[in-house]
Amino acid sequence: MNSHEAAPGRAAVVCGVGAALPDTVVSNAQLCTTLDSTDEWIRTRTGIGSRHIAGPDISTQDLAVDAARRALLCAHDVRPDAVLVATTTPDHRCPATAPAVAARLDLTGIPALDLAAGCTGFLYALATAAGFIASGQADTVLVIGADRLSTLPGRGDRSTVPLFGDGAGVMVLRAGPATAPGALGPVVLGSDGTGGDLIKAGHQTPLQMSGSEVFRHAVHRMSAASVQAARAAQWRLDDVDRLVAHQANARITAFAARQLGIPEHRQVHNIADVGNTGAASIPLLLAQAAADGRIKAGHRVLLTAFGAGLTWGATTLIWPELAPLPSTATTESVREGATL
Ligand code: UT7
Repeated sequence: MNSHEAAPGRAAVVCGVGAALPDTVVSNAQLCTTLDSTDEWIRTRTGIGSRHIAGPDISTQDLAVDAARRALLCAHDVRPDAVLVATTTPDHRCPATAPAVAARLDLTGIPALDLAAGCTGFLYALATAAGFIASGQADTVLVIGADRLSTLPGRGDRSTVPLFGDGAGVMVLRAGPATAPGALGPVVLGSDGTGGDLIKAGHQTPLQMSGSEVFRHAVHRMSAASVQAARAAQWRLDDVDRLVAHQANARITAFAARQLGIPEHRQVHNIADVGNTGAASIPLLLAQAAADGRIKAGHRVLLTAFGAGLTWGATTLIWPELAPLPSTATTESVREGATL
């Protein structure tokens, strides 16, 4: 594993967060009208009760733009000079999503690129943004995780359909001192392509996943990366006020948290209402938890993720004081150009 450490004096500091979810909510009961499964099975084996689903008229780009607008409001309308979009479900194979998102935000002329690292994509994007800032490539970076994972499973595949939902989450990072609240700690990242076949989707073929093997890797990798990230930030695991783990399965998070010795009241979750939203999972959860007070200024927050690749990562930050957050409510506003 490598860890990226921002140059002294020029850290990446969180100054805004935002999120977006499609309007349509699909419950387990609704899903099970066309799937050989039950609400009880899905709840007990995954912790998922419902998920938001983007119809064909809502793109990954729409979700990203909606969340980005909210994050920019939260950040008092700073002007980013780079845009990163982590996604496994770009709208097109070519061009990338990020330049289009930047253009819709009136940010043409600046660097804009996509990153694909499965459900760990957002942490890879955070590390890239921190590198842009440390090197002077950018002062303010819009870091977006956006996915429509509901589009990946094959129709009627009960082992994958219930798991996935759609959404976007965003963090605005700007250059600041490493001691500032909101400064990103070292980012631990890793991959193991020998496990690439464990979660795989082709251009024309649906997602195939070896669920129980992925489960074991996810628990192991997220807890190991968390230990490394805490150590790199010179934190003890007892110092962690909030664990924000990628929301793939409530049982995965519970096992990882148990290995780390982080009790339930120091964890935050949203899987029951959104399922696995891929690269959006961590920033969406952060935005929701900051908006409803589960995460407060001064909390020591540990982030960790695991995903296709295989990929994994973790990082730390002390939550900053942010402007009151706009709601995560949904995508109508984007399509109609309404004020958020
Ligand atoms: O973001 C990272 C990517 N994804 C993940 O992290 C997902 C990781 N894996 C998981 O979350 C879990 O492995 C699953 C939720 C996918 C599956 O749960 P499990 O407890 O590992 O079940 P299993 O795969 O061992 O399957 C047990 C049984 C099987 O039946 P048999 O072969 O024992 O008769 C499955 O066919 O459960 C069956 N099954 C279902 N039954 C009812 C699988 N999905 C369903 C379902 N409803 N939706």
